[in-house]
Amino acid sequence: MSTHPRLDLTVKASVTSGSDTWHSTGVEGELRPLHLADGPHGLRQQPDEGDHLGIGGSVPSTCFPPAVGLGSTWNPDLVRRVGEALGGEASALGVDVVLGPGMNIKRSPLCGRNFEYVSEDPHVTARIAAALVEGIQSQGVGACVKHFAANNQETDRHRVSAEVDERTLREIYLPAFEEVIRTTEPAMVMSSYNRLNGVYTSQDPWLLTDLLRGEWGFEGVVVSDWGAVFDRVAAVRAGLDLEMPPSGTDQLVADAVRGGELDESVLDTVVERLKRLQDRVRTDTTRSPEHEAHDALAREAAREALVLLKNDGGALPLAADRSVAVVGEFARTPRYQGGGSSHVVPTRVHSALDSFEAAVSEGALAGVRFAAGFTLDGTEEPALAEEAVEAAREADTAVLFLGLPESAESEGYDRTTIGLPAPQLELLARVREVSERVVVVLSNGGVVSVAEWQDRADAVLEGWLLGQAGGAAVVDVLTGAAAPSGRLTETIPVRLSDHATYLNFPGEHGRVRHGEGVFVGYRHFDTLDVPVAYPFGFGLTYTSFAYSELEVAPNGENAWTVSFTVTNTGDRAGSEVAQLYTGVEQDHPTRPRRELRGFAKAALEPGESTRIELPLTGRDLSVWDPRDHRWSLAAGTYTVSVGASSRDVRLTGGITTEGDRYVRKLTKYCTVSEWRTHRVGGPVMRELMSSFPGLSDVPEDLLRMADSLPLITLRTFGLGVTEEMLDLLVDDVEAKRRAAVERGEITG
Ligand code: BGC
Repeated sequence: MSTHPRLDLTVKASVTSGSDTWHSTGVEGELRPLHLADGPHGLRQQPDEGDHLGIGGSVPSTCFPPAVGLGSTWNPDLVRRVGEALGGEASALGVDVVLGPGMNIKRSPLCGRNFEYVSEDPHVTARIAAALVEGIQSQGVGACVKHFAANNQETDRHRVSAEVDERTLREIYLPAFEEVIRTTEPAMVMSSYNRLNGVYTSQDPWLLTDLLRGEWGFEGVVVSDWGAVFDRVAAVRAGLDLEMPPSGTDQLVADAVRGGELDESVLDTVVERLKRLQDRVRTDTTRSPEHEAHDALAREAAREALVLLKNDGGALPLAADRSVAVVGEFARTPRYQGGGSSHVVPTRVHSALDSFEAAVSEGALAGVRFAAGFTLDGTEEPALAEEAVEAAREADTAVLFLGLPESAESEGYDRTTIGLPAPQLELLARVREVSERVVVVLSNGGVVSVAEWQDRADAVLEGWLLGQAGGAAVVDVLTGAAAPSGRLTETIPVRLSDHATYLNFPGEHGRVRHGEGVFVGYRHFDTLDVPVAYPFGFGLTYTSFAYSELEVAPNGENAWTVSFTVTNTGDRAGSEVAQLYTGVEQDHPTRPRRELRGFAKAALEPGESTRIELPLTGRDLSVWDPRDHRWSLAAGTYTVSVGASSRDVRLTGGITTEGDRYVRKLTKYCTVSEWRTHRVGGPVMRELMSSFPGLSDVPEDLLRMADSLPLITLRTFGLGVTEEMLDLLVDDVEAKRRAAVERGEITG
């Protein structure tokens, strides 16, 4: 019987899609229409019907650093505050659910939407995204994590099938979603456009129901990405609550119920979920959007996002008595966000040039001269380069703002190269010839290569896309008013072709094979010792830090606390991002050498120390076992590494564990080796072999040859072994295994 007798079938079908681009469908007296708006780093609240491609305008709101910047802060507390501000602005605008954060893994540096994602690593992605969700939701507004799942490229994004094996999904592409869903209960999850192993994610019952709700306990609403549903009935049946925007096919849903293809209770459940959601969110349009305070917060976040890659000879911070040539159009016309649905109309924009001029008037610099140097659209204007070289010749330091033009990266398409535009590199070469000190500041959403040009710069500051206050933040760090404290959340390769995904991106004929498996990003570079330009987790500061006194203490069954001391050994205040990695020694690696399992950012005065404690659990040491579809913690010794990047390990310790003591069930299709090494089956097998004349003294090398034989094949070797005998053996061993499980000696 329907749980909503008041609602007729047509009405219930109608709420499974929106009423327009940005609203769910309301039902008088039952459901109020919910207002949804992009996006992850600022609100794109469109007053009218709107669009989802970032083409139309929107109400001005604070443009915080996109995820590439927020991730680089490695500071969840700060990101939580950004989330609070975003939630506050959403509430003031009557937005019930903010369509963010984006949490896809940066599988390849070429993904056009990498600026909207946090990292190549699931742990840092989860921590940053969770903080944003908590912040947004603390204001009575819902957050919507997206794009679920394996949406790691823009090429053919509406059709492409990401072909990902089960272990890789569990270890790389799903854990950040899992963690955020389990710990923060986001109001919504947005399915992605792509297919996952052949099935559209918006129509995938395993993904949307078995995993998301069954395993992870998600109780919120699943919304489609905009225009991602092809088969309405399949989507509703799979667990998609809300199709956005509406495709005008609700009738198909109602007909499916009438025709018995879809259970009406599925629609009742959708109504229940929408009700629960509307009870959870409460906006307050009388609130002030606090744009001034949020601009200051955007600047603080942008400062912490800047990653200092190189600083030879103490080129930075710039000394107050120095004159500076500010070169590059990006200094005057900052690139501070990416293109597409996340595009925000900012409340104001701080250019680096304005901030440089302010620094001069405040006496922080001796003088500034600006030269555009190049055009953003790439048209050749030799006079601009000439002027820039002249400006550099006359100044003590040349600060070059290089980067990717807006057209180079966006939602909707991927890049084909990670190089900077050639005219910019030519300009750098010419400036180097005339300038004693060259500082490069980068503006880019996805990683750009630095290896071929960075020896021409004394200092390199990775400036990402930093939101509306990015220009001011850059000058804060260049002048030393603030210390750089960002760290890379993605490896900068020497060459694009060194990347694990090089041969498998973006795929062809509608499929992209994740051939590198779990070896994504630094998991690949570090396991194979491939040289990189800058490793994952890297970033310089204006001071230095020492690590000491590592302790790994048990904290319950298969749980530990890792603690260590970090000391600021320099003469300036600064922040260290201490990182905890785990790994296991293997002759032929099947697991990454190191995987990030924890981090802490500590702000320390000169000489100050702090003790950092990070938790580790059995899950952190586990591997996904696709045979039994479970996390498996093998007995053994695991390494615990603490340091300042994935390649700058300062302290090493170990953990020895008995593991989860899981013992698999044996079958007659298991191999001789699996039987011989099995904790319960092994002794039985040995005893049996000794009772067979001629088998008891088989030499070890012959036994090894037999190791790969499934037990059932023994029927054919004239040993007198029958299938019935094997069945009895299997039953006997299984009974012993169950008994051992019951006695608590093993699990299984
Ligand atoms: C994007 C989503 C976005 C939606 C609504 C889609 O094109 O993939 O991230 O939230 O549009 O604008």
